[in-house]
Amino acid sequence: MSVTLVRNGTVITADAPARRADVLIEDGVITRIGTATGAVPDAVAGAVAGAVADTVVDAAGLLVMPGGIDAHTHLDMPFGSTTNADDFESGTIAAACGGTTTVIDFATPEAGEALYAALDQWHGRAAGKAVIDYGFHMVVREFDDRVAAEMDRLTRDDGVTSFKLFMAYPGRLMASDETIRQALVRSRNNGALICLHAENGPVIETLIREALARGETAPKYHARTRPSSTEGEAAGRAMALAEQAGARVYIVHVSCSEAAGEIRRARDRGVAAFGETCPQYLFLSDEEYERPGFEGAKFVMSPPLRPRWHQDVLWKALQDDVLQVVATDHCPFCMDRPDHKPLGLHDFSKIPNGAPGIETRLMLLWDGGVRAGRIDEQRFVELTAAGPAKMFGLWPRKGTIAIGSDGDLMVWDPTRETTLAAATLHMRVDYNPYEGRVVRGGPVAVVSRGDLIVDRGRFVGRPGRGQFLKRGHA
Ligand code: URP
Ligand code: ZN
Ligand code: ZN
Repeated sequence: MSVTLVRNGTVITADAPARRADVLIEDGVITRIGTATGAVPDAVAGAVAGAVADTVVDAAGLLVMPGGIDAHTHLDMPFGSTTNADDFESGTIAAACGGTTTVIDFATPEAGEALYAALDQWHGRAAGKAVIDYGFHMVVREFDDRVAAEMDRLTRDDGVTSFKLFMAYPGRLMASDETIRQALVRSRNNGALICLHAENGPVIETLIREALARGETAPKYHARTRPSSTEGEAAGRAMALAEQAGARVYIVHVSCSEAAGEIRRARDRGVAAFGETCPQYLFLSDEEYERPGFEGAKFVMSPPLRPRWHQDVLWKALQDDVLQVVATDHCPFCMDRPDHKPLGLHDFSKIPNGAPGIETRLMLLWDGGVRAGRIDEQRFVELTAAGPAKMFGLWPRKGTIAIGSDGDLMVWDPTRETTLAAATLHMRVDYNPYEGRVVRGGPVAVVSRGDLIVDRGRFVGRPGRGQFLKRGHA
């Protein structure tokens, strides 16, 4: 039996006040939580503290929180004839170094391809590489009897209980409103959760064509051709479609006031609507697109960065539980690889969409959220671990520190200072959107199913130790 003891820390979960406690993990599962301060009888504390452990992590003076769950990543994602910059090994090492112990990635079938073929492919991409546990969402592009049956079976038998449909990218990934309605209706019956990328694809395509015809080819026109009203319109339509279908809906990467407002109003009238935002929308603004030359390409993602005032609205939505999750949409492409960002050197619409973020999510949210007084420690855990676990059928196995839960946790030093820089972070990409930003608070040790995988900031885990998570219904 393997035994890990995390000693003398202050345990923080989403639903309980902070408490001094030792956490005992046996064979990957939390078996004892003993409080050394008298709140729990000394005998229990003694039993925990006295356990014979193979690994002892001293958390004195530090916080012990559930390992993060990043519910939106793209690792080893195909793009044309290449893939994005992080595979399941480098990406999950970076995630672990940032305190994340679970990722949920997107398996994406080709047009007409069986969902099961995509699932097999994504299993192949992750197996033998992932250093932390992982699950998959499945992308749905069209709907027919075969897709319907596959959605049912994936949800029932394979632990793939959430599906993403795109309202953007016509001719490539976009699903019609009819398809979205059918998927929503199906999910009402099979218990899956439909996730939507809310941007009005056809309108955006028109704006892009018009911009290019005027000779507007620089990266900043990516943002100008995807105004926040196109996201707001799609989010509103998503709310109506979910309401009509009587189904739950989850909007991914909410970037703006209009979309958050649509979710808020839908929830107020009783629609089971949920949403996530990402650090880039909380901490970066469209000013980044004004950088000289091709520099703005670093920030080309969809939806794009917005004027700064949207950030206050997103923070309010996180505080009010209009948004329940902070994920990353980690999708890195390099600036110096000809088959990555430079593909759009002369045409912004050809710049691969996405930016790195899997490693910096928790540090940014702690520094700009907890330290800045916008959210408390409990809400931090809710948004980064407990919330995604509940939303995506991993609770209570993941997302909390409780007896019977997986021993996934991080020892957090709220005073640790990190200067974010591509050269020292572990993501396999040649720039960082926050280059030079100093954040306070970070993980010093990370434990995944009882294994110490990050020790004093250094990755000490093993590729391939990560396990596929068969998720339940949320
Ligand atoms: O720009 C982005 N977000 N790239 C990743 C794909 C997506 O839509 O999530
Ligand atoms: Zn998306
Ligand atoms: Zn994404």
